[in-house]
Amino acid sequence: MKHYLQFSDFTRDEYDHLFQRTAFIKARFKAYEKHQPLTDRTLAMIFEKASTRTRVSFEAGMYQLGGSVVNLTNSDSQLGRSEPIEDTARVISRMVDLVMIRTFGQDRIERFAQHSRVPVINGLTNEFHPCQILADLFTYIEHRGDAQRPLDCLQGITVAWVGDGNNMANTWLQAAEILGFHVHVSTPSGYEVDQRVAGIRSPAHHRVFQDPLQACEGADLVTTDVWTSMGYEAENEARLKAFAQWRVDERLMKVAKPTALFMHCLPAHRGEEVTAEVIDGPQSVVWDEAENRLHAQKALMEYLLLGRL
Ligand code: CP
Ligand code: NVA
Repeated sequence: MKHYLQFSDFTRDEYDHLFQRTAFIKARFKAYEKHQPLTDRTLAMIFEKASTRTRVSFEAGMYQLGGSVVNLTNSDSQLGRSEPIEDTARVISRMVDLVMIRTFGQDRIERFAQHSRVPVINGLTNEFHPCQILADLFTYIEHRGDAQRPLDCLQGITVAWVGDGNNMANTWLQAAEILGFHVHVSTPSGYEVDQRVAGIRSPAHHRVFQDPLQACEGADLVTTDVWTSMGYEAENEARLKAFAQWRVDERLMKVAKPTALFMHCLPAHRGEEVTAEVIDGPQSVVWDEAENRLHAQKALMEYLLLGRL
């Protein structure tokens, strides 16, 4: 049994399979053809933080695959009344086939997985957001690559990360190490990526820049995220000040390659981490990224439950 708790849980070869499968599943969906390999399977979703995209993409995706979904939050389950995560895992995993969790510390999802009889998927933790990077990389492949050989277009490319050294940044670093690309990271001081937390083996696939402009020079992809992630709201005021120079604007996009794409996992705050000109401009692929959560996670759920089809 496999879990998907962080990006490094899968190999390069498994990603090659997943991206090809995502393309197949997406094409079927666009042609209104049924694809229901998960008939009679049930997904439980546990949200300890808010969500729009993750909720809709997993729920719609599981129904489209022929299965059904149970949704739990802290306010409507015993998790909010201090039932241990280990007991919750033992109980829920006797009743469903697959679990997706959005929670705070990575330790919480790891404890859940240790006591689960069924595969567990990370729908975002403080440390990682692997499902988002899965969709983002598929989006890059769709725009710049070849569905038959999905990983080729990622070799040696430069991804510029501008902003917080957060769950998204950590996951980009893991993906770079596994799939062979480079990340140029620029964060304000005090918000750097921590290599240990990011769970990467070496600094070989990323380079740190103080100046976000330098980080974006020659980049194939420029990406950012909110200045204040969920769970860090108390720091909002300090972050607004610290991040003021880490806004993706046209000046930053101009020094990237002319073919560079712009990505943002959303939700976005126009005028904070990105200007409206960039996120609503011609290089932005943010709506494709959001849509591809659906297709990529359908491939992921199929793989975790049925293996390679
Ligand atoms: N990008 C993302 O995970 O969005 P939600 O918080 O809306 O799920
Ligand atoms: N880094 C953000 C991503 C939201 C999808 C957060 O954790 O809130």
